[in-house]
Amino acid sequence: MDIKFNEKEKQFHLFNSKISYVIGICLDGEIGQLYFGKRINENQVVLDYQSAGLRPLCCNVKEEENYTKELALLEYPAFGNGDFRDPAYEILQANGSRVTNLIFSGYRIYDSKETIPGLPATYTNTDDEAKTLEIICRDEVAGIEATLYYTIWRDYPVVCRHTRIKNIGVEEFKIEKALSCNLDIPDINYELMHFEGAWGRERTPITRDVSHGIASVESMRGHSSANYNPFVIMKRKNTDEFKGEAMGFSLVYSGNFTVMTQADTFGKLRFNMGINPKWFSWPLAPQECFDTPEVIITYTQDGLNDLSQNLHKLMNNNLVRSCYKNKPRPILLNNWEATEMDFTEEKILKIAKKGKEAGVELFVLDDGWFGARNDDHAGLGDWVVNTDKLPEGITGLSKKINDMGLKFGLWIEPEMTNEDSDMYRAHPDWVLAAPNRKRTLGRHQMVLDYSKPEVVDNLYDQLYKVISTASIDYIKWDMNRSITECFSQNHDAKEQGTIYHKYILGVYSLYERLKAAFPNILFESCASGGARFDAGMLYYAPQAWTSDDTDGYERVKIQYGTSFGYPIASMGSHVSASPNLQTGRSMKIKDRANIAYFGTFGYELDLNEISEEDFAEVKEQIKFMKENRELFQYGTIYRLQSPFEHNIASWMVVSEDKKKAILTTYKKENVPNMGIEKVKLAGLNPDYQYTINSKAQMYGDYLMEAGISMSEKNKFWFESDGDHSSRIYVLEA
Ligand code: DGJ
Repeated sequence: MDIKFNEKEKQFHLFNSKISYVIGICLDGEIGQLYFGKRINENQVVLDYQSAGLRPLCCNVKEEENYTKELALLEYPAFGNGDFRDPAYEILQANGSRVTNLIFSGYRIYDSKETIPGLPATYTNTDDEAKTLEIICRDEVAGIEATLYYTIWRDYPVVCRHTRIKNIGVEEFKIEKALSCNLDIPDINYELMHFEGAWGRERTPITRDVSHGIASVESMRGHSSANYNPFVIMKRKNTDEFKGEAMGFSLVYSGNFTVMTQADTFGKLRFNMGINPKWFSWPLAPQECFDTPEVIITYTQDGLNDLSQNLHKLMNNNLVRSCYKNKPRPILLNNWEATEMDFTEEKILKIAKKGKEAGVELFVLDDGWFGARNDDHAGLGDWVVNTDKLPEGITGLSKKINDMGLKFGLWIEPEMTNEDSDMYRAHPDWVLAAPNRKRTLGRHQMVLDYSKPEVVDNLYDQLYKVISTASIDYIKWDMNRSITECFSQNHDAKEQGTIYHKYILGVYSLYERLKAAFPNILFESCASGGARFDAGMLYYAPQAWTSDDTDGYERVKIQYGTSFGYPIASMGSHVSASPNLQTGRSMKIKDRANIAYFGTFGYELDLNEISEEDFAEVKEQIKFMKENRELFQYGTIYRLQSPFEHNIASWMVVSEDKKKAILTTYKKENVPNMGIEKVKLAGLNPDYQYTINSKAQMYGDYLMEAGISMSEKNKFWFESDGDHSSRIYVLEA
């Protein structure tokens, strides 16, 4: 890994053993994109990137050379100089002009990388893991300095980018758009893969052709959302899980975002990503700086599994910050689906006790323990224990749970308040609400104005009191509605365009303070399930509740889709009651667990209410998970057959030394008298002989080339299984 600057040709080459990213200085001094892809020789000068020659109707910034931006590939394009595509930034100056032009003025290369003030970002553990290039550009007329940051990683085919904008003039200006990255690509033969959904069906992979016009996904909900995700893939049409070219882009941010591809009529493709510029407007006074969030960009020629695996490694090693980083996650039991808010201490202790008997390690008390919270109309904002339900408070309950030999975890939703709460009665101006307008409620609650430091301080003080006076090992931080009427009361008119972003900065700052005060707590983020599952959140909370939908089959799809961009250890996955609360579907406890193993694993039901046989099975499941959780959570995942395309879905995890692997298959419909159907495995050592479920032996090459038969009865399965049935195969070399 290194970064070289060719002074004569004015070209920067960032490279490691797998990729090269080449940047140049264009004829007019703007920063150009020269090459991004598989590693090329670092001494190669990229020559053919600036198309000169007179072209009718094109406007030339350098007339003598007929140099037009319309044909250039640019790194951080501006508005107003003849590049008629969407710019990466827009700045409204005091005189009303939006025309800008950032010209190269210097650079810096150094080991490691810097943090981004107030924002989550990847980090190095040792300085030699990465190298950073800063390219400094200036627009002297508008008084803008932009620093483009590029970090190349030693161990991953990844470049991370973000941009800092500084006002170096004498007048305030307004940033109306400041994206994290722009990548101009020299051809349009790509597909955009994004992950869409809604509550209960998050992150379904969708593939769209992008060869004409604009394709875009975004969030304007104030959080990254269940609807679209700030992780996308650009892939070639023939790229599949095992071969072909693809680039992944993951925005390290949890608020409103935009992703756009724009194919132009010269056969080039513009890709950009960052904070959504809609209703964003950031006044920047002289000498002030604004930092965009970071985007992680990865490249592969070896298909989507390789792309995901590289991202997972980077996130596990260089994004997650927690004492649970790369450590097995505790098997938990959460009371939500068992009791909702209707519980007493006695009921909770009974549920926890049964959990302990089964072998769980952590009991989590969900919503309903505080204020007047008996249903979802009241209590949010009042983080004081409800002693009618818990007479000895969280202090007493956590001690009793600890005495059983369990860790104790607690649910909070600190970004919200109800009208029926002491907090709202005392501070009606602490909620986001537009003047003289009705507030739009979501789950009967309002969003607190986290752009105000006094709101964040209040929440910190309240939560500090609860956490510091009890024995708490885990926090589930929930967030159950999107932002509407995004207006900060008592703020200047000109500040209103900053609120969405300041809101999320406020959320990050509270996380930061709580993490600093309680470094041993495991945080799990949640937003009505998976409505804020993004790389930004993983920096604070190493795991996220993947979805409120705990139905086994729905989870196959949701976890499969989520795995494209996020590590297995980040996916909260629990076994819940049957029939399932969300879908009404009945499934065997074995099939529910076979999917939940591929995640943090836990239970979300009252184990006192299941049959003795099922309880005996739960004990076995927990034992099995304890024996294998490092492999489940940190093994290399291979998606084999998609539930969106096959009746039998399948994936597997493989240990680093390839001596152990676990495969799961999930059959949606049981087809009688089925023909030959095989699932081909991946990632094994072809020369190892694997024992499968302690029953039969097969060589790695055979398993990968010929596959395992899925027929009703095979060497390892003698019972006939019905619809929605799954199998687990443990392979040991
Ligand atoms: C939504 C979460 O996703 C659920 O798991 C649960 O915590 C409820 N909120 C509690 O209100």
